[in-house]
Amino acid sequence: MSRLAILSAGGDCPGINAVIRAVAKTADQRGWEVVGFRNGYRGAVENDFLMLGPEETAGLLPRGGTVLGTDNRYDPSDFPVEEDGRVVRRDLSQQVADNLQRLDVQGLIAIGGDGTMAVTRKLIEKVGLKAICVPKTIDNDLPSTDQTFGFDTAVRTATDALDKLHTTAESHHRVMVLELMGRYAGWIALYTGLSGGADVILIPEIRWDPDVVARKILERRARGRLFSVVVVAEGTLTPEGERVVQRRVPDSHEQIRLGGIGQLVGELIEEKTGIETRVTILGHIQRGGSPSPYDRMLATRLGVAAGELALEGRYGNLVALRQGTIQAVPLDQVETGIRTVRPDGPEVEAARAIGICFGDR
Ligand code: F6P
Repeated sequence: MSRLAILSAGGDCPGINAVIRAVAKTADQRGWEVVGFRNGYRGAVENDFLMLGPEETAGLLPRGGTVLGTDNRYDPSDFPVEEDGRVVRRDLSQQVADNLQRLDVQGLIAIGGDGTMAVTRKLIEKVGLKAICVPKTIDNDLPSTDQTFGFDTAVRTATDALDKLHTTAESHHRVMVLELMGRYAGWIALYTGLSGGADVILIPEIRWDPDVVARKILERRARGRLFSVVVVAEGTLTPEGERVVQRRVPDSHEQIRLGGIGQLVGELIEEKTGIETRVTILGHIQRGGSPSPYDRMLATRLGVAAGELALEGRYGNLVALRQGTIQAVPLDQVETGIRTVRPDGPEVEAARAIGICFGDR
């Protein structure tokens, strides 16, 4: 029987299981089997896998996370191996190709973000891996696709948090600051701020001035609005233009962890307005939970498209959402880097039109 393989790498997000299920079902309809490697490319190197038949994929659609596990530290071409009691780096790319061949796998579907795509491209070049990539991240910052699955669910979760902060802000006449994920892009903060009726939204793409933010909050107070809610993207720069780094992470594609800017924003607001201010960092709650219907749909469409491309032997592509349709984009033409919020884009303009403050300098 012919076989495909699938893996998920990088940070998890709601909808990965829906992709896995869609690939498995698409393959099953045509009489193909699917093998799932555990923990990203680590499983492909170590030949650690499970079969993904109808039994194993039953009930996967609403489940958050990834049943395959994930990891963003493993690049087969720079793989940590223990030798004589110490860890050395080895190029084990060929081992991935050999494992696939031994398992009789025709091609691999890799679900991941920019880091996973870069590793997959390397394997295509080095050992002729037959692969298809499925983009994912809650951050919605990949330039190759109009929207990533996981984003809608993250915005839902964050909007729910903002709604809750609103009621307590109002009761206590406080300022509530909510710090959200998004890496170097402000998409989650912008969409959450708009959906949850924030008074101020701070994002990495717009330089801000604490005096402008304080003025907005004091103006509201003067009009009898005794509370304010402020959304801050984790990648937002300090007023001096510096990046707040929570910690450095050795051995990871993502060398730093962002976070902590919310605290600084809260302190500056309290200092400049004299209004009691509290800060909430929502953190990984944004990555968890059951995918929204929109994300289930998008993940299913991407999984079906990836499965069909693989069954047709059309490897070397990324499946992407473009103007409402799912398209195959050759991996060597996929734009890399980050898709950031345009300060003059339609969402920012809509927010400005209803009086949301971005703290512009
Ligand atoms: O890229 C997704 C994301 O959740 C970012 O929004 C965040 O900065 C990062 O991952 C957190 O990574 P980790 O789970 O490794 O702390």
